[in-house]
Amino acid sequence: MSMIQSVVKKSLEYVEGLFKDQVSSSTGSNFIREVSKEVQARRNNGEVIQDKEIYSNIILLIFASADTVELSIPNAIVSLLQFPIQKEIFLNQYEEVKENAVEELLRFSGPVRIISRFATSRIHVKDEIFIEKGDTIVLELPKINRDPTIFHEPNQLNLNRNIPQVIFLIYNSKKKKKEKNETN
Ligand code: HEM
Repeated sequence: MSMIQSVVKKSLEYVEGLFKDQVSSSTGSNFIREVSKEVQARRNNGEVIQDKEIYSNIILLIFASADTVELSIPNAIVSLLQFPIQKEIFLNQYEEVKENAVEELLRFSGPVRIISRFATSRIHVKDEIFIEKGDTIVLELPKINRDPTIFHEPNQLNLNRNIPQVIFLIYNSKKKKKEKNETN
């Protein structure tokens, strides 16, 4: 068993244990208790939810939220300290810049380095270059977020930067929501 498989297996067992303890005692985590209640209510309404779906989604939330939040804040602080004028803008014009500041700080020093995708069909990239069906594509977010063909002076932090909407790989929550609404 690979290390990743073993971590996944142990994580599943851990979350399963939390759920079982929850059922047999009145103490435990608020989060697990709330999830248990919600699942129970949905099952009572006839929804089919398998235990493994619950456990794997909880693990997804733990891994997706832990390092990202924990690292975004210190990364943002260091970035602002490196650019004192931007730090002043952030502190003095907080209300005006706060939303764009989130996007720009995630562009500049976001915590997610790589994400991956599986190709579901053969894709022609250019000339003789193809991505074959089933290939794993690893995307390096900092390379995109510091690409000078996309961002003017990409190595400068600029809280008033106009971030292009096409760059969905920055975790661009505001624009993602807007795009989602437009396609709905
Ligand atoms: C500043 C904090 C965060 C950053 C920078 C961040 C970044 C990202 C990125 C880049 C992705 C896309 C990954 C991919 O497409 O492969 C993603 C997906 C996701 N994030 Fe976050 N994240 C943050 C906070 C959180 C928190 C707090 C949660 C949950 C409580 C969360 C839950 C998720 C989930 C469930 C997905 C998968 C969504 C899907 O597959 O459609 N994230 N996040």
